[in-house]
Order: sequence, then C-alpha cells, then structure tokens
Amino acid sequence: MSDETLSNLLKEDRRFEPPAELAANANLTEEAYERAAADREGFWAEQADRLSWDQKWDTVLDWTNPPFAKWFVGGRLNAAYNCVDRHVEAGHGDKVAFHWVGEPADDKRTITYSQLKDEVSQAANALTDLGVGAGDRVAIYMPMIPEAVVAMLACARIGAPHTVVFGGFSSDALASRLTDCQAKVVVTADGGYRRGAPSALKPAVDEARTKTDVVEKVLVVRRTGQDVAWDDDVDVWWHESVEQASTEHELEFFDAEHPLYVMYTSGTTGKPKGILHTTGGYLTGAAYTHWAVFDLKPETDVYWCTADIGWVTGHSYIVYGPLANGATQVLYEGTPDSPERGRWWQIIEEYGVTIFYTAPTAIRSFMKQGREIPDARDLSSLRLLGSVGEPINPEAYVWYRHVIGGDRTPVVDTWWQTETGSIMISPLPGVTHGKPGSAMIPIPGVAADVVTEEGESVPNGSGGYLVLTEPWPAMLRTIWGDDQRFKDTYWSRYAKQGWYFAGDGAKKDSDGDLWVLGRVDDVMNVSGHRLSTTEIESALVSHPKVAEAAVVGAKDEDTGQAVCAFVILRDEAGDGGADIVEELRNHVRKEIGAIAKPRQIMIVAELPKTRSGKIMRRLLRDVAENREVGDVTTLADSSVMDLISAKQSEGK
Ligand code: WTA
Repeated sequence: MSDETLSNLLKEDRRFEPPAELAANANLTEEAYERAAADREGFWAEQADRLSWDQKWDTVLDWTNPPFAKWFVGGRLNAAYNCVDRHVEAGHGDKVAFHWVGEPADDKRTITYSQLKDEVSQAANALTDLGVGAGDRVAIYMPMIPEAVVAMLACARIGAPHTVVFGGFSSDALASRLTDCQAKVVVTADGGYRRGAPSALKPAVDEARTKTDVVEKVLVVRRTGQDVAWDDDVDVWWHESVEQASTEHELEFFDAEHPLYVMYTSGTTGKPKGILHTTGGYLTGAAYTHWAVFDLKPETDVYWCTADIGWVTGHSYIVYGPLANGATQVLYEGTPDSPERGRWWQIIEEYGVTIFYTAPTAIRSFMKQGREIPDARDLSSLRLLGSVGEPINPEAYVWYRHVIGGDRTPVVDTWWQTETGSIMISPLPGVTHGKPGSAMIPIPGVAADVVTEEGESVPNGSGGYLVLTEPWPAMLRTIWGDDQRFKDTYWSRYAKQGWYFAGDGAKKDSDGDLWVLGRVDDVMNVSGHRLSTTEIESALVSHPKVAEAAVVGAKDEDTGQAVCAFVILRDEAGDGGADIVEELRNHVRKEIGAIAKPRQIMIVAELPKTRSGKIMRRLLRDVAENREVGDVTTLADSSVMDLISAKQSEGK
C-alpha cells in the first residue's frame, strides 16, 4: 500500500458507536479486557468451560517447549459431541442447525440438530467400515452441501483429522495435498452447481489418484446425478454406505491435543503448508470468538457466514464455532449472483438472517452493481455484520453498514489467519466503536503488537510488523510433517522475544487502534484468498514454452490484489504463438485452480534482477500498477525496466 493511500486511510475520522440495545445486552463487556489481561490463562480456562469435557484438564497451558504449545493438558473431549450431541441431550434436538440453500432455486433442506446427529453417526460408522481409524487422515473435496459438514464432523467424531481441499482447486493441487498428509480416504461428490449449471468434481479426484497412490477409498455423494467413471475397488456411493449405516455410534473421547484437522494454505515457497489444529484449544477459540465477536444469542439469532468450507473461515465460523454454540445457520451452496444478482439478499429476507459474515471483495462487487439490488429486499432482520479476509476499505465498510445494515448494525472487521484458528483482532460489537477500515484492538485473551524490525513496539501513528506476543488456545501446533518450517516461518524473526510473526504489516493510529495493511511477504491476497507468488511462478515454469517467470500481486479495485505475471519464453518457443497468454493463463488454472489464474501476463525478454540474481518484484509491481518505476540503481542491468515499461504502454 502506498504511503499516500495510508495517510488518507489514517485521516478517516468517521466513528460509529455500538447501538444502545446491543451494548446493554452484549455477551462481553468492557470488563472482559481487564479480566483477561490480569489472568490470561484463567480467562481461557473460563472459555474452555463452554465446552463439554469427558475429563477436565490439569494444566491450562504448557509452554515449556516453545513454540510447541499444549493447551488444556490432560483434558479429554470429542469435538463432534460438542458440536452436535450435547445440544440434542440438552433438549434442543428439534432446533434447526442448518437452513441449507442449494444453488438451483427451491433446492432446500432444513436440518435439525437431531438429524445432524443421526447423519454424523451414520457417516462415522461408514468411515470406520472403510477402514478409517483414529489418527488416519481423510480428505474432503466437496461442494457446499450438508454432507460436507457431516463428513467433517464424522471425521472429528472418530478422531480422524480431515483435510478439506477447496472444490475449486485442480487435481494437481489436490494430489499434492493428498500425498503430503497421506490421506487414506477422499470424500467427494459427483459434482456441484455453479452459476446454474452442474460442474464436475469426481473426475479431478480420479485424476489425482493417477498422481498419488495413498488413497484407498473414495466416498462419493450423488449431488447432480451426472455420469461419473467408477472403480469398483475404490469408489463407494454415499447413499449406499452412509445412508444405510446405523444411526447409533459409540462415542470415543480424545486428548485435548489430538489432531482435529490439517488446512493447507499458501506460504512464501511453492509448497503449500499443512496447518495443524488440535481439538481442545481450537474448539475453545472458535466457540468463544464466535460467541463474543458476533454477540451470538443462540435462541434467536440466524447466522450466515458466506465462506466456503474449503477455507479456514468455513471451518471456524460455519462448522466448529457456530455448532459448538448451538447456533441456527444458513448454509448456501452457490455464488452470490445465481440465478439472479440479488440472491444473497433474497436469502437474508427469506430466513430472517440476523448476523451476516462475508468478505470485502464481495461487498465491493455489490457496491459496483448498485444499491437498488439489495434495496429490493427487506434486510431489517440484520443486527450485526462481519468482514474477513483482507483489509476492508473505508468506503466499502460504510456502504456495507449503510446499505446492507440500514445504519443500525455494527460492522466487526475481524483479523485472523488460517494459522491463528480463530479471530484475534476485532471490535467487540457492544463495546468498541466502529472505525471504518480498522480492525481496532485484540479481543480479550489475545495479545498483539506492532513492532519494528528490531522488535521495538512502534509509537501511535507509526507502522511496522504485526506480532502476537502471547500464545492462544487455537494457535496452529505445527506445519504437518515439518516442525522446522513451522519454527522458521513464524517464530524465527522474533525468536528472542518468543513472538509469533504474522506476515502482515500494520499501523497504530493516534488512538492506538490497529489497521492491518496486508502481507509483507510473497503472499498475495486475491479476493480474500491467499496465493503464493512462488507457487504460481512454479506453475508457469512447468509449461514447456516458459523459461522463467515472476509473479506479483498488483492492487485491484475489485479483488484487492490481482495476479500479474511476467514471463520469459524459451528460445525454441519463438514468440509463443498468438494465443500464448491465454494458453499460460489456462495452464495456471489447470495446475492450481481458477482462483490463481493471472489477470495479466506480459511476455518479456528479461526480468529485473539484482547483481546477486534476485528478482526485484517491487519494480514489477510498479509496472503492474501503472506507476512510475522506482529506484533501479541496484539492478544488474537498469535498461531492463525501460524495455518492460515500453512493452506495458504498447499493450494499452
Ligand atoms: C488477511 C483468513 C486485513 C491478512 C481468515 C492475513 C486481513 C490473511 C483480515 C490470512 C482483516 C484476514 N483485515 N487483512 N480483517 N483478515 N486478512 O489464512 O493478510 O486465508 O494474514 O485466513 O488474510 O488469510 P487466511
């Protein structure tokens, strides 16, 4: 972000007080900050008490071997029991867990907590029959259908860590994740609905199986009814196994530190990192934050988070947090604009959604379409709005609050990461006033700071690196199979202080409130999705015509950042042919998935490199953002940039 944008941001002086009624009945009040600061572990133990434990812990936190934390040591629990069974036992079996809305209009299902319990038990039995035991990994590659949630909870129930792979990822991306965590079983569907048409999923699993031999069984939900290839030795229909299984399943309890799931996310190298979350601490973090930040009143609220369960937001704020709290939710299969552009607002009206959680990129696209579309619906049920995934620009925040929230609703801008497992920095809706663009301060229980390279806390009005200075229950425990990378990535920069380095830049304003500005490493944020520049570069270089590639994230009005690639072709490829750019874009889609497809690819003769051979991405970003190219004095050959800039202007 340029300094100019930054100072404009910091001049933002609109303030929104919490609505009086919400403040008067808020789940958490001002006092929680002091209580948590005075006895952090005691505060977290109180939060862990929201869960049902088969056996209580002896020690809240074991931090004797940092950065490897153990929370609620000695405790035993079952995550699925906490999310499902206990609500049924408490007499809430008839309560709606999910109002599921399929993309084809009128394709809906209502699922109560009792029904969810039966289905999770059936799936747990079926997975056990397929040979899955505690500790075995199960991959889930599915559309947003109830069976996806059921599969996750069934895994949790039998202690088999799941790894959900976003359905938009390619077979290559799927195969590398399957191999990395050695997934024995894949749960998938024949396909799902996307923009009104069925799109296939199972073929990608079939193809992934040609690239890895770890998978023993594939459990397939029939969603669209489209034709699928079938391997009798491997493939099993959901309706012939799960739906035939017993609804009785005997529960087992697991250690608080038993692995719950692995979620892959992009890092600064080409290889995605498998972020490991465990049971007791993670569930405590997800349940507490969902209750505190969204001020959840489980008896009356209808909560809707629009994320896909293929991302961490879907894990913490569709599956684990809300279900542990016994919430009633909307679960939606499709895109915001199918079959019509007002689909989301129609769903809010139809189900009386009270709490709505989405991403800035979606808000910006609605702003562009104009307020007539949401104005055509009654959105008066909404009482709280949330934002996640990337910095929300003040205009989008104000539009969201005004047009969607009718000026009644607080907006909670929640900062967190796959690694943090739960929300870390956010306003509390009944306590903190809203400042458009600022995530404000760490929630009670969390300790964060903005520091210099040397680890000095920056004064108000200055920027630096965002760090978390104390361990928290939902923190990642390691990178799957790679403790060293875990230490190097997050804990080496401030090893002396023992702080977690988040990889984000942030600024403290004159009140000391935090503004998260974006990544300071080679990770891009496109429409709220994390992508690694190196991963896309590797995908490009795997194309036979490509010799070298450099990728940068350039500012984009709609998607926050966009993928821009600079590519040198091999000599034998000549000019690559007329369709080279499209060919390369499709190649990236095939290698990683549609979300990684570059917005722009420039074929260049050279890349700007320092004398030591490092690509200067900063200069390429200048070109991609149509700025005057910055200081080139450290380049080995400074004329390279003239050629690239000339090429860019030619292209316009
Ligand atoms: C960015 C998504 C500004 C940030 C939950 C972080 C944000 C990365 C915000 C994590 C926010 C997330 N304001 N930036 N409210 N929320 N980010 O792992 O750069 O997909 O490091 O987790 O998204 O992305 P991830």
